[in-house]
Amino acid sequence: MSEHVTIERADAVQVIRMNRADKKNAITRDMYAAMAAALKAGDADPSVRCHVILGVPGAFSAGNDLADFMVVATGGDGGTEVIDFLVALATAAKPLVAGVDGIAVGVGTTIQFHCDVSYATPRTQFRTPFVDLGIVPEAGSSLLGPALLGRQGAFALLALGEPLTADEAVAAGLIRAVVSEEELEARTMATAESIAAKPAEALRLARDLMLGDRKALVDRVVEEAKIFRERLKSDETRQALMAFMTRKKGA
Ligand code: COA
Repeated sequence: MSEHVTIERADAVQVIRMNRADKKNAITRDMYAAMAAALKAGDADPSVRCHVILGVPGAFSAGNDLADFMVVATGGDGGTEVIDFLVALATAAKPLVAGVDGIAVGVGTTIQFHCDVSYATPRTQFRTPFVDLGIVPEAGSSLLGPALLGRQGAFALLALGEPLTADEAVAAGLIRAVVSEEELEARTMATAESIAAKPAEALRLARDLMLGDRKALVDRVVEEAKIFRERLKSDETRQALMAFMTRKKGA
């Protein structure tokens, strides 16, 4: 479905890898569609026990493709791929494990709010410049952020765009642990395999109890997306996108 997302199986673990290294894994509509389809297919397949989300060395994801944002900002159709992915993420029936190395911007950060276990490397930085782009937090982060990080921690990350180092993300409870770049994928897969080896029904019940009723979360994902899409057409956003598109490299 997308040349930039690979879906592989390692026994009962489904591995979803964003693979668009030349654009630091900026996520296009096709990539969202491929990842949403994989999450749904894996959830429906009894032989899949756990999802893993990976990027490439140095880039988990630079967030939504800004050229795709520009299409909406200039009156084009944004499609439903992003919201499909975000709802699939928020409602995933099976555990989600992420391995994050390097860049984790925008949705590259907010995916972690939905993961049961995330690992990152020392060079990883989590950052969500939503407001600087004239837009608003997404992926349910306006609800999950304050609950996890406290009001002021969420404001710093999600409104002010202050970065979190990997160590700070562990301390904040956003991710589980920091591991070396060399160990990242092996550790991520080992954890996914240990999850896959647990009694599936007991694990599902335990996870569902901890997540609780996800209707409020899905409602927030949809509400954020509505405001987000309106904001993409704002002057504030158009100016920020133009600044990125016309920036001088290395500046
Ligand atoms: N959308 C589209 N293209 C993107 C992108 C994005 N979100 N992020 C990076 N790219 C592209 C760059 O335009 C560049 O393409 P080019 O080589 O054709 O010019 C390529 O990926 C490499 O990016 P570059 O900026 O040279 O890498 P860097 O290591 O210096 O910086 C970032 C990486 C992620 C810090 C920087 O690219 C950035 O700030 N990107 C925008 C992030 C963003 O705002 N995302 C949306 C969040 S809601």
